[in-house]
Amino acid sequence: MQEAHAEPSTWLAAAADHHASLSELRRAAAGCRACELWKRGTQTVFGAGPSDALLVIVGEQPGDREDLRGQPFVGPAGALLDRALAEAGLDPTRVYLTNAVKHFKWIARGKRRIHQHPSRNEVRACRPWLHAEIAAIAPRVVLCLGATAAQSLLGADFRVSVARGAAVASPLAPFVTATVHPASIVRAPDADRRRAVRRFVADLKRVAEWLGEDARREQQVESDRAKPPSAGAKA
Ligand code: URA
Repeated sequence: MQEAHAEPSTWLAAAADHHASLSELRRAAAGCRACELWKRGTQTVFGAGPSDALLVIVGEQPGDREDLRGQPFVGPAGALLDRALAEAGLDPTRVYLTNAVKHFKWIARGKRRIHQHPSRNEVRACRPWLHAEIAAIAPRVVLCLGATAAQSLLGADFRVSVARGAAVASPLAPFVTATVHPASIVRAPDADRRRAVRRFVADLKRVAEWLGEDARREQQVESDRAKPPSAGAKA
């Protein structure tokens, strides 16, 4: 495999024939210069989790802590996500977590680094990495958290407020869906937070059902394959 390329589309065009593995993608993305965000971020924060995950969860971009640690969802939004996954019966260690944009975009306010939403161009520049991650994993379900992830994968017209929780037809995976970003729940006023968490967990439970249905279907196919031909079947 060739060395990491400054332009992800160019590198990924070469990678497409090669079926790049996640570790090859991670190494290449570390040197990405496809937009200006690498100049301010500490490092590329690539996705993390098992390469055979059934569920890929896509956030917006790494935050302050993720930027420093080099891992997605290790701050307050990640803690809420972990708790909600567990409550929905999903094992957080079996989920692959990633982001639509892989560098932290921020402005300085005093000593603090304040999150800024990525621009459309920054999201577009990073999309080849996200597509390549999903292709390498081939999950059953892709869950987008918030508008940036949802619009990157499902189109600029996608509205989480309208289509939240619904399965959207997509070549990316058998089930693709979107819900709110857990950071919006962390920021919600106390009076609204409990209800917001309940709705979020309900969305994750639907994802758990899709994973369950698919796993059951797969088991059925396996057991049908293992059955001897029925007595009435012609040779
Ligand atoms: N928010 C995100 O969208 N991604 C992270 O990795 C952390 C917070």
